[in-house]
Amino acid sequence: MLYRLIYASEAVGSTGASTLSVAQILGAAITNNRRDNLTSAVMFHEGWCLQGIEGSRQDIDRLMRRIREDRRHQNVRVLSDKPIASRSFHEPMALCDDPAAMLRAIGATDMSRITAHEADRIVELKKAA
Ligand SMILES: Cc1cc2nc3c(=O)[nH]c(=O)nc-3n(C[C@H](O)[C@H](O)[C@H](O)COP(=O)(O)O)c2cc1C
Repeated sequence: MLYRLIYASEAVGSTGASTLSVAQILGAAITNNRRDNLTSAVMFHEGWCLQGIEGSRQDIDRLMRRIREDRRHQNVRVLSDKPIASRSFHEPMALCDDPAAMLRAIGATDMSRITAHEADRIVELKKAA
């Protein structure tokens, strides 16, 4: 059974804001997610992180344990976690290149109060893109 989990978190320091911090996260994620058969997309916007992860229950839970312990962000809040029929993400780790446009498209201004429904709509947009 395949699952998709979406979480939001608060960036610490320059996480998500500097090219180096993004490159470091993507570098580890691409290697590990490929190994674990996980597909994923992440977006960084004004101090917030939003990530969707797809794969088996065990692989998602194992990754989430590492993610929750990662000091580069805090207050990890799971917005949505459910079985899916097929994947919306097709790469080990994709970076959303225009988060502001994504948020505008769903009528949200920032990620501080993002809801499960809004997070699901972002995934739908990403799938259509
Ligand atoms: C916002 C954010 C997203 C992350 N996404 C992933 C991911 O998709 N896959 C992954 O393996 N690590 C991800 N990480 C890094 C993990 O928290 C952890 O540092 C890493 O998995 C450790 O890998 P290693 O055991 O190979 O050193 C992410 C970290 C942050 C801050």
